[in-house]
Amino acid sequence: MRAIITGVGHHVPERKLTNADLEKMVDTNNEWIITRTGIRERRILEKEKGTSEMAVPAAQAALSQAGVSPDELDMIITATVTPDQIVPSMAAMVQKKLGASNCWGYDINGGCTGFLCAFTTAAQFIESGRHQKILVIGADKMSAIVDYKDRNTCILFGDGAGAVVMEPSPDTNEGVQDFILHLDGNGENSLYMTGGGSLKPATLATVNDKLHYIYQDGRTVFKAAVNGMAETTSRIIKKNGLTGSDISLFVPHQANYRIIDAVARKIGLNQDQVVVNIEKYGNTTAATIPLALSEAWEDRRMKKNDWIVMAAFGAGFTWGSVLLRWAM
Ligand code: UT7
Repeated sequence: MRAIITGVGHHVPERKLTNADLEKMVDTNNEWIITRTGIRERRILEKEKGTSEMAVPAAQAALSQAGVSPDELDMIITATVTPDQIVPSMAAMVQKKLGASNCWGYDINGGCTGFLCAFTTAAQFIESGRHQKILVIGADKMSAIVDYKDRNTCILFGDGAGAVVMEPSPDTNEGVQDFILHLDGNGENSLYMTGGGSLKPATLATVNDKLHYIYQDGRTVFKAAVNGMAETTSRIIKKNGLTGSDISLFVPHQANYRIIDAVARKIGLNQDQVVVNIEKYGNTTAATIPLALSEAWEDRRMKKNDWIVMAAFGAGFTWGSVLLRWAM
């Protein structure tokens, strides 16, 4: 038994925040942002809306493509670092809004690797035979935790959501074939948001000290991301008796075009094999991979039996790669 993707969808808010807009907000410029990151614009959700408002339409698109109705779902796993609120989970909010009346579920915080964490978790429930229909969502409203006075971060992040429906297949040659995932808490001082948790709950002081915003040491994360994603991707390809030329599509986390390019070069992939949409959305954290996968499928960039590798790196640090064979 293997877990296959039977539907994929995405949703982004309409409002665009362009590099020209950011030039008016912080000391930056279009050329720096494009050459250093590859980003031209990001989408920003309305202030009064929560992440689930993007997760639900993304999920509905994936469900409709799979021909699965919400009440058929066994489980909903949502990957996010920006749930609508801390308690209850965003999965509960999505469940209610979808009217998925026969399922259970929860949130996963795996930073930018969150979607791969949720996806591989769902695959285990399907391979075990326990569940037949699982909705996996990656969604983040990064604009809620970005300081638009900090040029180191505000140029990078955006809002968005992507979702897949997973179901079992008796054909073991399709669907999820392998995954390699890592967690290293030594990355805690390189990418973090310290306020709002149990250690530093919200107070006037935490707000004044700007502890409810995301911070990162860009250079450290950059190097670790290139090395981490390239290593797990090369390893998973070799481990499964494949070479780079067997991979039809590489779907990496979209954090920086230079990271994607460096990883692709290290593995020996050409541009046609790599999905890049960072110029339109920036880094949408847990949403980047399902969003990229959904757009690639809309553009018919994969077909049945194609080998696909997804790879990510994020806060923790957490990183890894997933190998699958496209089944649609
Ligand atoms: O998704 C989670 C994982 N996150 C990532 O993977 C992000 C990883 N890191 C990066 O993408 C890059 O490190 C950044 C895009 C964040 C920064 O690019 P960089 O090439 O590493 O630049 P830098 O931090 O080394 O800064 C170079 C210069 C500095 O000036 P000096 O010290 O050389 O005078 C910065 O102050 O660029 C300056 N700078 C800016 N200039 C214009 C930093 N941010 C900006 C800005 N506009 N927005």
